Amino acid sequence: MPTPPGNYRTIRSFVRRTGKMTSGQASALESLWPVYGVEATSGTLNFATLFGRSAPVVLEIGFGNGDTLVTQAHEHPERDYLGIEVHLPGVGHCLMQAEKEGASNLRIITHDAIDVLAGQIADSTLDRVNLYFPDPWPKKRHRKRRIVQLEFLKQIAQKLRQDGDFFIATDWAGYAEHIDAVLALDACFTLVERRRHAGDAPLDRVTTRFERRGLGKGHAIWDWQLRRV
Ligand SMILES: C[S@@+](CC[C@H](N)C(=O)[O-])C[C@H]1O[C@@H](n2cnc3c(N)ncnc32)[C@H](O)[C@@H]1O
Repeated sequence: MPTPPGNYRTIRSFVRRTGKMTSGQASALESLWPVYGVEATSGTLNFATLFGRSAPVVLEIGFGNGDTLVTQAHEHPERDYLGIEVHLPGVGHCLMQAEKEGASNLRIITHDAIDVLAGQIADSTLDRVNLYFPDPWPKKRHRKRRIVQLEFLKQIAQKLRQDGDFFIATDWAGYAEHIDAVLALDACFTLVERRRHAGDAPLDRVTTRFERRGLGKGHAIWDWQLRRV
């Protein structure tokens, strides 16, 4: 079973949701964790050892139920995928999907991504990072919880290879403004592309679960592709 996220800092980009775990998710956590799970206590990861080969590595932060992660891993067998998520029912769902697809290029960590980046990912080892629909934290007093901050961009840039890409998407207009404002201060990335669309033009990704929810509420979608300079 995964190591529970510990060492809580005062400000986290998530709260532990108490979503109901289905029996299928619970048994997937029990039986499939040894296949796909990576302990958050395992120190700096050696991707060649972890995946049993040398291939480009894509990291997805906050994969939710993992449908997008598993789809991308299935569509790109030439890449290896590492997903980070703290919501255990989502992790259980992801494990079930991974087994269904017979994914061999996928591993999962269930811990705060900020700690994982700092303690488990060596510098300049990632080819791509995906951050799809991060929690929007709409209330003004909660904005400090938004994961996209200047320090976070620096941390991502440090872990990406030269010319590695960072993809972000949101359906929350206030978060899109916030991301643009943080990017204006950032010196680690150049903007490859920024799109505002109606869900019909996702930037090199499939539609995610949270995106569908936002679209159902009439939200617009913003996508960014950033390149490490
Ligand atoms: C709004 S949901 C989006 C899920 C998915 N990407 C999608 O688009 O359907 C954001 C997810 O990020 C996760 N999350 C937030 N902060 C995190 C962190 N610091 N480390 C790992 N996961 C995090 C939450 O648990 C949540 O499942």
